[in-house]
Amino acid sequence: MTDDNLTEAERWDARYAESDRIWSGNPNVVLVREVKELTPGRALDLGCGEGADAVWLARQGWRVTAVDISRVALDRAAGHAAEAGVADRVDWQRRDLGESFPEGEFDLVSAQFLHTWGDMPRERILRNAAAAVAPGGVLLIVSHGGFPPWESHAHPDIHFPTPDELLESLQLPDGQWEVLLSDEHERVQTGPDGEPAHRMDNALKTRRLAR
Ligand SMILES: C[S@@+](CC[C@H](N)C(=O)[O-])C[C@H]1O[C@@H](n2cnc3c(N)ncnc32)[C@H](O)[C@@H]1O
Repeated sequence: MTDDNLTEAERWDARYAESDRIWSGNPNVVLVREVKELTPGRALDLGCGEGADAVWLARQGWRVTAVDISRVALDRAAGHAAEAGVADRVDWQRRDLGESFPEGEFDLVSAQFLHTWGDMPRERILRNAAAAVAPGGVLLIVSHGGFPPWESHAHPDIHFPTPDELLESLQLPDGQWEVLLSDEHERVQTGPDGEPAHRMDNALKTRRLAR
């Protein structure tokens, strides 16, 4: 899975091609919890994968721009949107977010587990994400706080930022944003041999103040 000769896009395409579905097909729990009370508008989903979040948002009435580096994932996601009857509400964009970022302003920008194996400039991408939030809009970033137990020994040098570190790295201008949520929470995942494992995730939700 970490063949150094592959580009990031090729690695993710290969990962998605391993099976018909690599994620659960359900929208992320924190996204649903934190967004369900918001008034639907324009949403941007960064690293949308197989599209479960984008499809859920579209079903709630959002107009969604959903971006991923993997064409395999996006084709699959578009199929799910068509099955759900929301194909016309989602604009699927294949991009390497380290190289280009969607145009426009959004009432919600969501990055759910935007992690990868390679050298993605995640902090810069998430600063671009903040810049794309419209006045009054929300930025929701949900991240892993560390590796799962079955992988941690392989990457002792990799640091996962805490929500405070993430907030600082966003460099949000003073007086223009409010922090609505900054937490660390435990999640149970299933390991490669079917064993349950506890994993720390974190969530940061900020709102750009209306002008
Ligand atoms: C861990 S998955 C999370 C997928 C989805 N957000 C979810 O929660 O199920 C990370 C996603 O980011 C995408 N990705 C990785 N690097 C990227 C990049 N540089 N630009 C755009 N998408 C990228 C991958 O293809 C993958 O779909």
